[in-house]
Amino acid sequence: MRKINLFDTTLRDGEQSPGVNLNVKEKLEIAKQLERLGMDVIEAGFPATSKGDLLAVQEIAKTVKNSSVTGLARSVKGDIDAAWEALKYAEEPRLHVFLATSPIHREFKLKKTKEQVIQTAVESVKYASQFFPIIQWSAEDACRTELPYLAEVVENVIEAGAHVINIPDTVGYITPKEYGQIFSYLREHVKGIENIILSAHCHDDLGMAVANSLSAIEHGAGQIEGTVNGIGERAGNAALEEVAVALHIRRDYYQAETGLYLQETKRTSELISNLTGMVVPGNKAVVGRNAFAHESGIHQDGVLKEKTTYEIISPELVGVSTNSMVLGKHSGRHAFKNRLQELGFENSDDEVNKLFVAFKELTEKKKEISDEDLKALLIEEKVSTQESAFELKAIQVQYGTSQIPTATITLIKPNKEMVQEAATGAGSVEAIYNTLERCVGQSINLIDYRIQSNSGGRDALAQVYVKIKVGESEASGRGMAQDVLEASAKAYINAVNRMLLLDKINDVSLEPSLLN
Ligand code: KIV
Ligand code: ZN
Repeated sequence: MRKINLFDTTLRDGEQSPGVNLNVKEKLEIAKQLERLGMDVIEAGFPATSKGDLLAVQEIAKTVKNSSVTGLARSVKGDIDAAWEALKYAEEPRLHVFLATSPIHREFKLKKTKEQVIQTAVESVKYASQFFPIIQWSAEDACRTELPYLAEVVENVIEAGAHVINIPDTVGYITPKEYGQIFSYLREHVKGIENIILSAHCHDDLGMAVANSLSAIEHGAGQIEGTVNGIGERAGNAALEEVAVALHIRRDYYQAETGLYLQETKRTSELISNLTGMVVPGNKAVVGRNAFAHESGIHQDGVLKEKTTYEIISPELVGVSTNSMVLGKHSGRHAFKNRLQELGFENSDDEVNKLFVAFKELTEKKKEISDEDLKALLIEEKVSTQESAFELKAIQVQYGTSQIPTATITLIKPNKEMVQEAATGAGSVEAIYNTLERCVGQSINLIDYRIQSNSGGRDALAQVYVKIKVGESEASGRGMAQDVLEASAKAYINAVNRMLLLDKINDVSLEPSLLN
């Protein structure tokens, strides 16, 4: 079996999904789970884009030890310097540097000739070689680049010192057969290519990202890039869990395998969906809610007689547990801790104690606590942040069919002062948000609002995701409560707090070399 490396870019290309913005704690939690899942490479961010991104990559590079951590850089010295600043503490610092090669990008974006593109690419790889032991070079929009020219650029950057060559289908344009042919062509025409790893990076604009990635493997790619749940710029990236499971289930055909611990798949998918607010469609392959549900009578009958009649992937393979246990008011600390362990979560005694308090509070409102509730509690506990935050003290909403909705809210400000306001709105949520805007004392635009239930049942917890804009800054927020209005208020306050934190991070002064 050939080993295929998986390069996860959930925290970089995935974070470029519209509406997604993660804070450092959330990124770190995701990175640790990606490491547990067994990703070979984790692209932790794009350090030159903001000080917040640089700090997040730095934190991940210091923490993650079993996966190689990388960061993206354009082919300019400032970006490479910023990436080194972020990655120099990593166990295996790796740079991902890119430059567009297609005629459209050369002419309209870069305004560079073919020769200038080669020169810039070569200079950036040589410059990066002073710092980084491993350099990956990407030809942005490779699939719309003239093949002989692509081969020429690739040969030059290999000579300059690149170790991995990535062939992105940046705009999701290519078909599986054509993509495979690019890999074959490069392997035939590029000197020195036998010593490097060829990598595939596919976008899903035409719904072919996973098929294209698998075709690349058949034509010699040794690394596949993508994201968990397939999130990413526009229609997203190749879903790595689909690639890994396809290789596993069809190993007879591909004769290749990844190093993923597949039983961590579902948990990783849930964590990322929860923290990004990007809901996984029910019919999504491998990790969708319905991926293992059999609806038709004929199918159910078949599965009861012999699972493999209609089931090619067993739920257990990807960590979908089929025996859901319910805890409640009378469950003790021991049962609680056991269930967390059975769900695969390791927590310190201190964390278990805090979680147990939150669990007990929840049992006051909700009779049965499902695995979904436990996971939601756990995620909140792990990523909650206290720094200089607004805190919800009390909320009251008056609503009636012949009444104007009115909200009254008491909030603790970051300086610990208490503020109380009331306002009306066309609906209860608008009344709450108008009131919160008054409490915060700033004009805030709500640009996205989404609500979902955490599990089934009338008493399910509500999860609300919002995105707000203040001036030019945007921030997203999450809130969970049994009541949808309380969850709505919490999500809004969470977004305001993140904005404060983001501003604080971006005030941090960096070493002068990074500011050039
Ligand atoms: O899609 C793309 O081309 C990219 C590169 C930066 C690798 O994400
Ligand atoms: Zn991309």
